[in-house]
Order: sequence, then structure tokens, then C-alpha cells
Amino acid sequence: MHLSLLFLAIAALSHGLSTKNDISRCGNPEPSIELLDVSRQLSVQENQVRDFGLYKKATLAVDVYFHTISASIDTLLSDSTLNEQFNVLSQDYEVYGINLNLAGISKTVNATWSRFEDELGMKTHLRNGTYKDLNIYFLDSVGGAYGKCPYPVNTTAESTDFYLDGCSVLATTVPGGAEKPYDLGKTATHEVGHWFGLFHTFDHGCNGGDEVDDTPPQATATYGCPLSKDTCPDHPGEDPIHNYMDYSDDVCLYEFTEGQINRILSFWTLYRS
Ligand SMILES: *[C@@H]1O[C@H](CO)[C@@H](O)[C@H](O)[C@H]1NC(C)=O
Ligand SMILES: *[C@@H]1O[C@H](CO)[C@@H](O)[C@H](O)[C@H]1NC(C)=O
Ligand SMILES: *[C@@H]1O[C@H](CO)[C@@H](O)[C@H](O)[C@H]1NC(C)=O
Ligand SMILES: [Zn+2]
Repeated sequence: MHLSLLFLAIAALSHGLSTKNDISRCGNPEPSIELLDVSRQLSVQENQVRDFGLYKKATLAVDVYFHTISASIDTLLSDSTLNEQFNVLSQDYEVYGINLNLAGISKTVNATWSRFEDELGMKTHLRNGTYKDLNIYFLDSVGGAYGKCPYPVNTTAESTDFYLDGCSVLATTVPGGAEKPYDLGKTATHEVGHWFGLFHTFDHGCNGGDEVDDTPPQATATYGCPLSKDTCPDHPGEDPIHNYMDYSDDVCLYEFTEGQINRILSFWTLYRS
């Protein structure tokens, strides 16, 4: 009895949380029914385009604003660290034809905001650009997660959703940060995937998955960097453990699929262009 409780506890831990310090890899909820419906419709359209051999090659340019917010001036991220983080992020997307441009950096000392409290107040104060522009906030805490980023929504300028748009990333996950094995800056790449409209590769388990055809369905998130993993053996393909939208260690994450890039383009056209 005690033993089975222990097993349950271990299973729960390895499922939702990093075993290191109980910070979850990502704070995003599963997408809403509305967003799921949109994705399903997009999936049908994208697959038709693909089957005609007309898959688009991305040529997207996005302005990016970095914000470092901390409780003290000593713990703000430096320009060189922010530039290193930007280089990781932009290289991860550039190979797929998505070109990011670092358009601005802001630095703010505010203990409340740095703890991810008064998120709306902080973002209302700091957000730059329009809904086409990506804002990333590097914080001392992101509500028990390494990162979190709202999915695209139907929004109007100056609305609450407009201000809430933009990713929150734990400052210690930047390249050279203290958050081993999540210290290569891939948390930002993952969160920006949500900003573009991508779900976790393991969302909705073996049935449906992330609604992108060429990411095999996956029953559970991946931790560490296993050689391979196949949690949906009745479905073709092994778990996409190297996909940025899984939870593997930073060193293990290095790809998006063609289907995900086309999903990004579809979402861009619908919500941000
Ligand atoms: C955005 O608006 C369209 C058209 O009204 C709607 O079908 C869709 O569900 C909305 N998207 C979200 C995420 O609510
Ligand atoms: C970003 O927005 C803030 C607040 O509106 C403004 O003070 C700042 O100049 C903007 N920065 C850039 C680079 O546009
Ligand atoms: C810091 O955050 C608090 C809480 O949202 C806010 O009231 C205050 O104006 C902020 N301080 C600065 C200097 O922006
Ligand atoms: Zn996520």
C-alpha cells in the first residue's frame, strides 16, 4: 500500500514536473476548444495544399522585443546574455525561413513583476509593437514553470488579450543560466512556438495529438534525452522527442516539422498578419 502510493507519487512527478526542483517545463494549459477547432480546420486545409505538392516555404519576418525584469539591478540579464539568447532563438527559427529581428531591449527592476505577479500591469507597461510583434519577458519566476506563452487569439489593439500577448520565460533558462539541463535557451524557442500557435506534441495523447499531421502522437511528455521512446505503439512513428514542442532537455531539442512550420504560417495569416 505504501509502496504503491510511492509509485504513484513518482509517476506523477515524472509526468508533470521536472524531478530537479518541481518547476514544470511549461505552464501552458491545453488549448481551448475554439483553438482546437481552428487547428483541426487548418489541418484539413494544410494537408490538401501538401497533397497538391504546394507546401509553402516560409518567409516571415518578425520584430522581437526582449524585456528583462528582476527584483534587483544585479540580477537583470546583461546585453551580452540577451544577445546570446536572441542568437539561439533566431537560429532555431531561421533555418525554417522565419527571420526574427531584435528590435528593442528593456530593463526593469520591479520585485512584484519579476515574480510574475500583476502580469497584466507589467505587460501593459512594457509591451512594444503591434500584434505582429513578439515580446518576451525574462523573469525571476514564472508561476512555477520555466515558461508560459498565450496562444494566438482574436484580438483588438489595446485590449487585455493584446497586452497579455507575449511570452514569459524564466531568466535562468537563458544560455549559460543556472537551470541545467534547461540552460541552452531552448525554453524561449518552445514558448515562441506557442506564440505562433503550436501545441505540445503530447497534447491529447495518442488520439489527435497536436493536430499537426507529421508529428507522431505521443502519450506523455519526454524528460531527459532518451535514445528513443514510443508511447503510442499502435500509431505509426516514434515519439518526436527532439521536437521543440516536447519537454526534453535543451540539448535534445533541435527541430520543428514541415507541418508545424505550415501551421505557424496558417496561424500567422489568420491572427497576426
Ligand atoms: C476567432 O474567430 C473565428 C471567427 O469568428 C472563430 O471561428 C474562432 O474560433 C476564433 N478563434 C479563437 C481562438 O477563439
Ligand atoms: C516600448 O514601449 C515602451 C512603453 O510604451 C516605450 O517607452 C519604449 O520606448 C518602447 N521601446 C521601443 C524600442 O519601441
Ligand atoms: C512595480 O509593480 C507594481 C505592481 O504592479 C506597480 O504598482 C509599480 O508601479 C511598478 N513600479 C514601476 C517603477 O514601474
Ligand atoms: Zn509549452
